[in-house]
Amino acid sequence: MEQKRERFSSRLGFLLISAGCAIGLGNVWKFPYITGEYGGAAFVLIYLAFLVLMGIPILVAELAVGRGSQQSIARAMNTLEPKGTKWHWYKYFGMAGNYILMMFYTTVAGWMLYYFFKMAAGGFEGLDANGVGEAFNTMLSRPGLMTGFMVIVVLLCFGVCAQGLQNGVEKITKVMMLCLFFLMVVLAIRSALLEGGEAGLEFYLKPNFAALKEFGLLEVLFAALGQAFFTLSIGIGAIAIFGSYIDKSRSLTGEAILITILDTFVALMAGMIIFPACFAYNVSPDQGPSLIFVTLPNVFNNMPGGRLWGSLFFLFMCFASFSTVIAVFQNIISFAEDLTKASRKKIICINLIAIILLSMPCVLGYNLWSGFQPFGEGSAVLDLEDFIVSQNILPLGSLIFVLFCSFKMGWGWDNFIAEANSGNGLKFPKGIRFYMQWILPLIVLFIFVMGYYSKFFA
Ligand code: ALA
Repeated sequence: MEQKRERFSSRLGFLLISAGCAIGLGNVWKFPYITGEYGGAAFVLIYLAFLVLMGIPILVAELAVGRGSQQSIARAMNTLEPKGTKWHWYKYFGMAGNYILMMFYTTVAGWMLYYFFKMAAGGFEGLDANGVGEAFNTMLSRPGLMTGFMVIVVLLCFGVCAQGLQNGVEKITKVMMLCLFFLMVVLAIRSALLEGGEAGLEFYLKPNFAALKEFGLLEVLFAALGQAFFTLSIGIGAIAIFGSYIDKSRSLTGEAILITILDTFVALMAGMIIFPACFAYNVSPDQGPSLIFVTLPNVFNNMPGGRLWGSLFFLFMCFASFSTVIAVFQNIISFAEDLTKASRKKIICINLIAIILLSMPCVLGYNLWSGFQPFGEGSAVLDLEDFIVSQNILPLGSLIFVLFCSFKMGWGWDNFIAEANSGNGLKFPKGIRFYMQWILPLIVLFIFVMGYYSKFFA
């Protein structure tokens, strides 16, 4: 008899883990720096619109595919697609997305861990803003150090997955997420009250549409689209897997909205922490990926009990990133389990080594391979990997989920609606079929094609 699929122990567990998969570096690291690069509040508005218009429906589609098939994407489409169709080929594309995401994610999670230890050890004390910036560059120049922390992240997160779904993934992620929510609020209040921080709040909260012109509307739309998909982890089956661990007691739209609200809350709070701090300590918000690392130690240096708060902050940043790494590892493991007969232990061992090796280009991109600058001056391997995932695999993968759920030649609208609406709670509006089938995919495609054009040819 076929083995029964594992289940989460509670609805809260499901919500926090799915939110944990969504909440991560995308919220606390990427969202602030992209918002900083693209001019602040106007970008935030576009991003929020994309979350509602595209993120939530796609989230529902992914969860429905997972729950409807009770499998990871390794077999989900094989189970749900009409005979003779080839939707299941998507699995390779989706899994490539999971691996490429981890190829840079583990490195940045390692930075968080390093910053936690450095902060706890008082390593930033007495440094001015320049010194703090220098500390970040010094870290980037040391491949051994970065490799060490990246390896610890990989070991810890696979270690949690090895404990199983309920005992490892669910138990640990639940606690991490609850601590994270609490600390973000405390720090946001602290940062918003900083002297000189008002200009940061204005930059963050008062839209300046002229800034959009400066960057080119299409490039901003492209960036907001990538960020909306990145933050929800949609398009690579990392959310679908959690749909496969729940029963039909709740309909999926309400769950998707809750996950999006939690995710957005953390992103907005991260901005509330970072932008007032940037302006209070004269750090330009358009720093790119280094933004939180060169901004926040200044805040903590100037705050009573800053070493403790700073350590806690980076500890919870680790939690945010680990929750995503754990979720994606769980997806990778489940994919291999659904596809092969290998034991969980063997799958974990092989993937552990593979992910460490695959993460090395990102580490080396900042030092030994720093001559490789794929997008011009100052860019690195990380930017290329991030571009492949955020701007390509996530939107195109999401498109596949949407088409699969809304067209007859896929799983089909009726099956999708029946699955999404089983159980109590908010129902998916049946009236938006035309939107799901045509408008949403066309918006994604349009922004995708035009975004390429404006990034590379305009
Ligand atoms: N959704 C994940 C994040 O935001 C990838 O970090």
